[in-house]
Amino acid sequence: MTITKRVFSGIQPTGNLHLGNYLGAIRNWVTMQDDYECIYCIVDMHAITMPHVAAELRANTLEMAAALLASGIDPKRAILFNQSRVRMHAELAWILNCTARMGWLNRMTQFKDKSGKDKEGASVGLFVYPVLQAADILGYKATHVPVGDDQKQHLELARDIATKFNTDFGVELFPLPEPVIGGQNAAGPARVMSLRDGTAKMSKSDPSDMSRINLTDDADTIAQKIRKARTDAEPLPDNLEDLKLRPEADNLVGIFAALAERTKEDVLGEFSGKGFGAFKPALVEVAVESLSPVTRRMNDYLTDPHEIDSILATGAARRRAVAELTDEALARLRNIGGG
Ligand code: TRP
Repeated sequence: MTITKRVFSGIQPTGNLHLGNYLGAIRNWVTMQDDYECIYCIVDMHAITMPHVAAELRANTLEMAAALLASGIDPKRAILFNQSRVRMHAELAWILNCTARMGWLNRMTQFKDKSGKDKEGASVGLFVYPVLQAADILGYKATHVPVGDDQKQHLELARDIATKFNTDFGVELFPLPEPVIGGQNAAGPARVMSLRDGTAKMSKSDPSDMSRINLTDDADTIAQKIRKARTDAEPLPDNLEDLKLRPEADNLVGIFAALAERTKEDVLGEFSGKGFGAFKPALVEVAVESLSPVTRRMNDYLTDPHEIDSILATGAARRRAVAELTDEALARLRNIGGG
């Protein structure tokens, strides 16, 4: 079996994209295009595991596609599409549902979090969500999967499913995918926190819009949000240990570092001893400079949904050249087909 270095990753079409989405996943996807064959999927079929409105799902899918394209995903190099255009995912997921064990899925912490108190009212899809994720990955024989910390458990499950399928049928159909945690940007993984509370993740569901920088914010709005961001009165320290004790300061320095593609040490080297009166304007400058072009391109794409649709359709067609493992998996189940 020849194994190329192939990345598969999926992202939910959440809508209202913000700096946390951009620095946490999107930018890393862009970088990985240089080193891997990349397949990127907007996972709208994962999105329907939770209550949703069809029109919003479509709008959010377009917005996510626009954000990915605007950030530098190049549909000529990477394959970009939305999951619901490709039946293979659901088909293979069914087969893998019969490989995965109830006990394995019962241990998934994300289901517990997302279903909350109403386990009986959760969709069955939400319970088998990680199996669809395994089908996404295994269906393309992906070798590497960039994921956040919260998805490590799902990737382990994909490996367990691959192993059991291969063993049950005495084949080496599915390679075991490796997680790529944290990405490869110089500044490391950026966990972006709220601008109002350095201990809470930046989130689209925070009621205060001042807590986040949206990818659609214009320069003035970005500047205003950074100027009003919560801080303390101390000057910036000269080392990371002291910085860590101050969540808001740590967050702003982290955002600066990630946007400027520098390390936090390096940023402290420039600003230690200075207060936020000096630091914030510098941060505004970096943020506006790096985000404005993304926002502009994103808005351009969004004026032409047909163009986005056509890019996603092309991606969905192109990925056929990569794999169609449902047929092979089915052949194993029916005990037909050699090799
Ligand atoms: N569950 C992932 C998330 O919420 C999204 C996802 C779906 C994914 N399929 C995937 C990630 C395959 C990596 C590989 O972030």
